[in-house]
Amino acid sequence: MAHVPTVVGVSGSPTHPSRTTVLVDEVARSFAEAIGGSHRTIELAPLLGQLGAGPFRSHLGPEVVEALEAVEAADVIVVGSPAYRATYTGLFKLFFDHIGQYALVDKPIVLTATGGSDRHALLVEHQMRPLFGFFQSLTLPLGIYAAESDFADYAITSDDLRGRIDTAVNRTVPLVRAHIDPDSRYANAEFARPDAF
Ligand SMILES: Cc1cc2nc3c(=O)[nH]c(=O)nc-3n(C[C@H](O)[C@H](O)[C@H](O)COP(=O)(O)O)c2cc1C
Repeated sequence: MAHVPTVVGVSGSPTHPSRTTVLVDEVARSFAEAIGGSHRTIELAPLLGQLGAGPFRSHLGPEVVEALEAVEAADVIVVGSPAYRATYTGLFKLFFDHIGQYALVDKPIVLTATGGSDRHALLVEHQMRPLFGFFQSLTLPLGIYAAESDFADYAITSDDLRGRIDTAVNRTVPLVRAHIDPDSRYANAEFARPDAF
């Protein structure tokens, strides 16, 4: 049976409801739809207490361990955090401190964030991208940042934000598809795969 790609979202907001969760879920859903996969979004807010239990996975509760394993097994990960003091939340970092050092190597990662205004939009480039550089992940070139004014009652209301999500998905889906199914990279090419010679 063909492998159905999994897109897993991680929302690093400590609150519920959360604009970040709404954004992460929408981006994960859009990617899953575009690649014919399934999606799920993990909220870290309910895991906050368990995540502080200690530095090793053996210290953590079963819900956190299940979430960590789902992220490590995903084909594509959509990460998101609210801006807190101009960077991602401590909760977001705490979760990724428990991810295996080599578990995300070459994994396609979509970077997203929300904030009170646009002032700290570059946290996606200056804080998030280096974190996933440590993991040797394949961070996709277009990050998605949204301000509070892009939402009303925890729903996306901005056409501009919807346009940015569509652009990010349309521009990077070929890259994601080629990555999770290397054969598709050569499907329309005039030349054969290099290893076919
Ligand atoms: C403790 C705290 C620190 C914050 N720091 C920033 C900040 O530095 N820059 C910013 O743009 N917004 C900041 N905000 C606003 C949140 O990033 C913004 O409201 C975000 O959309 C909340 O996301 P959520 O609904 O997913 O929790 C801060 C909010 C809190 C509670």
